[in-house]
This record gives sequence, C-alpha cells and structure tokens, in this order.
Amino acid sequence: MADLFEEYTLKNGVTLRNRVVMAPMTNYSGNDDGTVTDAEVAYYDRRSKGVGMIVTACTHVLENGKGFPRQFAGYDDKFIPSLKRVANVIHAGGAKAVLQIFHGGRRSIPEEVPNGEIVSASDVAFPDNATPRPMTTEEVKEAIKAYGETTRRAIEAGYDGVEIHGANTYLLQQFFSAHTNKRTDEYGGVIENRMRFPLEVLREVKQVAKKHAKEAFIIGYRFSPEEPEENGITMDDTIQLVDALAAEGLDYLHVSHMEFFTKPHRFTGDKEKTRVQLLIETINGRTALIGVGSIYSFDDAVKALETGVDLVALGRELLIEPDWVQKAQENPSSIRTEMDMSMQKELAIPDPMWEALKRPNWIPGMKA
Ligand SMILES: Cc1cc2nc3c(=O)[nH]c(=O)nc-3n(C[C@H](O)[C@H](O)[C@H](O)COP(=O)(O)O)c2cc1C
Repeated sequence: MADLFEEYTLKNGVTLRNRVVMAPMTNYSGNDDGTVTDAEVAYYDRRSKGVGMIVTACTHVLENGKGFPRQFAGYDDKFIPSLKRVANVIHAGGAKAVLQIFHGGRRSIPEEVPNGEIVSASDVAFPDNATPRPMTTEEVKEAIKAYGETTRRAIEAGYDGVEIHGANTYLLQQFFSAHTNKRTDEYGGVIENRMRFPLEVLREVKQVAKKHAKEAFIIGYRFSPEEPEENGITMDDTIQLVDALAAEGLDYLHVSHMEFFTKPHRFTGDKEKTRVQLLIETINGRTALIGVGSIYSFDDAVKALETGVDLVALGRELLIEPDWVQKAQENPSSIRTEMDMSMQKELAIPDPMWEALKRPNWIPGMKA
C-alpha cells in the first residue's frame, strides 16, 4: 500500500518528497499593483516545510482576467520578481513550487479590469456580476498565448511547474461547459469544440516549457467534475475531457471538489462508484491524479490515498495546521482540525485572508 510519506516521482522525472500537496488557495492579500506582499510570502514560508508540493493561489494571465480583490498578478514580465519571491520561499522549505495560472472570464471583477469590460465564451452572466462580452476567435488565440507567456514567466521566476486552472467555473471551464458556451465558431458547439480551448492551452504550455525550461517542468491541469445547471458539465463530459488531457500527456490531473469521496450526480454510467474511482479508471496510469476535499485528520488522508490516487491535496486543513505533515509523522493525534481563533499570527494568515475566511460554514472552527 502506498505511504503518504514516501517519495513520488512524476512522469517528467521530478520527485516530490512525499505525497501531500498544498491545494491552491487564493489569499486576497497582494499589493494594489499586483505584486505579492510580505504577508503572503510569510504565509507560504509557514507552509513550505512539510508538504511535497505547493500549488500557489491562482494568478491571472491577462489583465482582464482578475477574479479576486488583491490577487497577485502574472500577466506581465514586470511581475517576475514578485512571482520569484513566492517560488524562493517555497523552495527554502523544501517543497516544489507550482504556479496556478488562471483567467476569471465572466467572474472577473468589472471594477478591476481595463475599461470595466469582462469577457467569456459567451454573454452568459455569472449571478450578480456584469454580462461578459463574448471573446472573438482571435482573442481566444491570444488568451492561449497568454497562458504560455505566464508559463514562461513562471520558468524565469524559478517555479518547478504550472497548474492550468480549468476548474471552479473560471474561463477554461466556461468554454468547456455548454451552460456558458453558446459559441458557433470552432471553440463552441459539440464537446470536441468545447474542449478545444483547454487542450490548446495545454499544448501551448507544453511547447513553452519545452522551449524555455532547462530542467524537467511540471505541468498539471485542474478541473471541476460537474456543474448543477441543466446544460452544465456532467461526469460523462468530464470523463471525455480527462481522457483527452491524459492522451495529450501531462504530469498530473487535479480534481476540484469539496468532498473527496463523493459520487457523481449526473452520470450515465455506474453511479455507485466515486468520482475518484471513475477518474482513476479513465486515467489508467497515464498520469498522476491528485485527490482533494475535506481531508483534515491523518486517518482521512490515509483513507484517501487507499483509493489509489497518487497524491492527496489539503487546502483548508493547512490553513488550520501548517505543520500537518510533521505532526502526522510524529504524533497524528496532535493535529488540530479546527481553527484556533487566537492563532492568526502564529499561523501566518494575512489579515485580508483571515477576514475572508470568516464566510459562514467555510473553515471548521472559524468564527465571525
Ligand atoms: C480560501 C480558499 C481559497 C481557494 N482558492 C483557490 C484557488 O485559487 N484555486 C483553486 O483551484 N482552488 C481554490 N480553492 C479550492 C481549494 O483548492 C480546494 O479544492 C478546496 O478548498 C477543497 O479542499 P479542502 O477541503 O482541503 O479545503 C480555495 C479554497 C479556499 C478555502
């Protein structure tokens, strides 16, 4: 049986010191000019000493893709020194550093993008946000290049890899989903066309890595398995996408959902299997799978790894317990699984993030 603390070697030959990954988490704590703050650097420093790999908060690849207030930016070469600060501090702790690259699409913030204009696959608004302008075919091709350019910046800033953010209803997912993609060009319509943008982004990122990276570079892709909307993504759609991504070749796929052991809601196949089981069957050893979702205790993580996933990601639990790996190795019962409201400073959680985490029912033990 796999051991959480044994090394894991990705397809490209890069070895992680263990199988625990820090899930990407936006921290709302950058500077107004898009650079990272000292508080963000300290937050990563605090979490870099145990896990095998850290996937950073998402960074926008185009100026009009800013999806969060105080998000740190990756759309221009002027941000390379800022991006480098995060990579350096993660490396100092001994973890691999992966930059999550992203565009908010219809969920971008109108007040914080040029001319207040947000873009998406089609003019389908996200609830309570402005209606996006559909991107021209030319703009889609420019966006693909932008994911590549931010990958080059990640390489220059010293990252070990990038994770393409195709999950959580942002731009790439907006193209893949028939709920948000009503296009009639080659990027819309049948599923083969709706997958075109994600697949072309992956190809571009791979090409850029081949051209610019001097050492093996990690390329991952994150996806959300299902959407609740009538025309939204089903598990059947996701299996097709995952199969196509695995066929292209990449170092890992990373599912995004809040519960590790959930079963598919909308699926024509065997609904008794968990999503993770279905994904493992589809991937069939072609690449690694990272599983995630409400893993808090050591036992939770062991049970997750027993399903056959290659790597287990922890998000909220690493906010609560930055020393999770060290404690899991030495004394698992000492792992805290609820937020201690008196420990913000010791946990190195920046003020704006701390306030944002007070959203009801989000972080166990977090109080308003
Ligand atoms: C504060 C916060 C910020 C997040 N930001 C991102 C993000 O930038 N990119 C992403 O793919 N997922 C993001 N997520 C989702 C997490 O990566 C993870 O999938 C989710 O929290 C479930 O894992 P957990 O139960 O271990 O927290 C965020 C989650 C939290 C709690």
